[in-house]
Amino acid sequence: MSETTRTASRPVSGTEPGAGPVTRSDARSGTPSKRAGAELALLGGPRAVPKDCADGVWPIVTEADEQAVLRVLRSGQLNAASPGELEVGRLEASWAQTTEVRHCVAVASGTAALHIALRACGVGPGDEVVVPALTMNATAHAVHAAGGTAVFADIEPDTYTYTMDPHSAAEAAGPRTAALLPVHLHGLPADMAALNRLAGRLDVPVVEDAAQAHGALHDGRRAGALGTVGCFSLHPHKNLPTCGEGGLVTTDDDELHEQLVRLRNFGELTPTGARTYISHRTALNARIAPVAAAFTRSQLARFHSDARRRETGIRAFLDRLEHLPGLHVPRAPAGRTHTWHILRLMPEPEELGLDPQHRAGLRAALHRALRAEGVPVSQWQVAPLPAHPAFRPAGMSEDAALDWVAERFPATADAVDGSLCLQRRHLDPDAGPLLQRYADAFEKVWQHFDLIRRMARSRPAPGWREVLRRG
Ligand SMILES: Cc1ncc(COP(=O)(O)O)c(C=O)c1O
Repeated sequence: MSETTRTASRPVSGTEPGAGPVTRSDARSGTPSKRAGAELALLGGPRAVPKDCADGVWPIVTEADEQAVLRVLRSGQLNAASPGELEVGRLEASWAQTTEVRHCVAVASGTAALHIALRACGVGPGDEVVVPALTMNATAHAVHAAGGTAVFADIEPDTYTYTMDPHSAAEAAGPRTAALLPVHLHGLPADMAALNRLAGRLDVPVVEDAAQAHGALHDGRRAGALGTVGCFSLHPHKNLPTCGEGGLVTTDDDELHEQLVRLRNFGELTPTGARTYISHRTALNARIAPVAAAFTRSQLARFHSDARRRETGIRAFLDRLEHLPGLHVPRAPAGRTHTWHILRLMPEPEELGLDPQHRAGLRAALHRALRAEGVPVSQWQVAPLPAHPAFRPAGMSEDAALDWVAERFPATADAVDGSLCLQRRHLDPDAGPLLQRYADAFEKVWQHFDLIRRMARSRPAPGWREVLRRG
């Protein structure tokens, strides 16, 4: 019998009468179609995504997930260090098998995963780790928590992959580089062939931040098996969620595995079972809760089928969007698969009759128009990470630091100022019909592009520098 899904079913019935999708040629030429007749919702017209369309739901919690949690609560083994506790080890075995690696160590969060992975690789005081300028701040915090310093590389220019540029990483590397830390941003593996080659030349390990890329493939291998050690987040918004906080570390290296097990548990040798309480190295408590492990293992049972359904819905959505002039959808280079944790869409001002300085204004105008239509676009990251006060080079004035960031990380700066994102909760496995309504909204807005252009020119939006200055 199929599991009961505890999620409201998603009505997508609200398509307006006579409001079939515009054709691609309509969208390109701006030829009015039936839908184009509709006034933008921003100006009082009907929404392309009717209010009765439920927004995405994530995570989806089934009866099986609830039973898994209940099983742990009733077992009395509530802590990973409880003698006889089995849930954590079972999750580790399942994820190691899924990722096709020898070892997996489950931990308290994605940040903890990065922290202990870096320490297991020997990163410490005086070391530098190369991190992309476009990522969640946790990536750089983990480096500093390990005692090192994050140095930044730009993302690849002009590719719409948003992952670390191997050329920029090579420029950022120096004699103190102790590791590379690429991020498989939004679900797409970074260019690991080039980054592994660079790491080989530098003789340093590669720590993958795969927090957003569970199950992604690069030349037939899974994220988490592409470098020296892989790190995943189980945050409830992630593609493989838990009910709270959690993370996973993967590696093929037996010695690293032993260090990871110690680093998760006060430097002790036994993560579960009888403890000696003898610390073999300094470390904190980074253990995952058995309840969290059991919930994730239950989610893992349908992880691949969820991913396949999500792929179908998102492909159909992107097939429509990629025909809109000037709008660039994310690109997965040959040999790499995207797991669609976040969808980043980039309107290019120069292809849309605007000057480059209108990039932020264009994003803001589209943001307003699309949200009015019912599309929950947002900005994921509001400033390049090296511009955040916590990560700026020491001894530079704010103005000098921001100029330096603009010059050194132009692709990241353009991505944060210019692109629009749809996030996990709007991309759940059954979101296909809802995404079709979002596509209707994009096509409708594109048919009113004169107004968007005027808005972009007349209302300059604050870019990342202004956002940072305002604090
Ligand atoms: C790229 C990236 N790295 C690291 C993390 C940190 O994971 P967690 O929130 O589980 O600590 C996140 C989570 O949002 C992330 O997106």
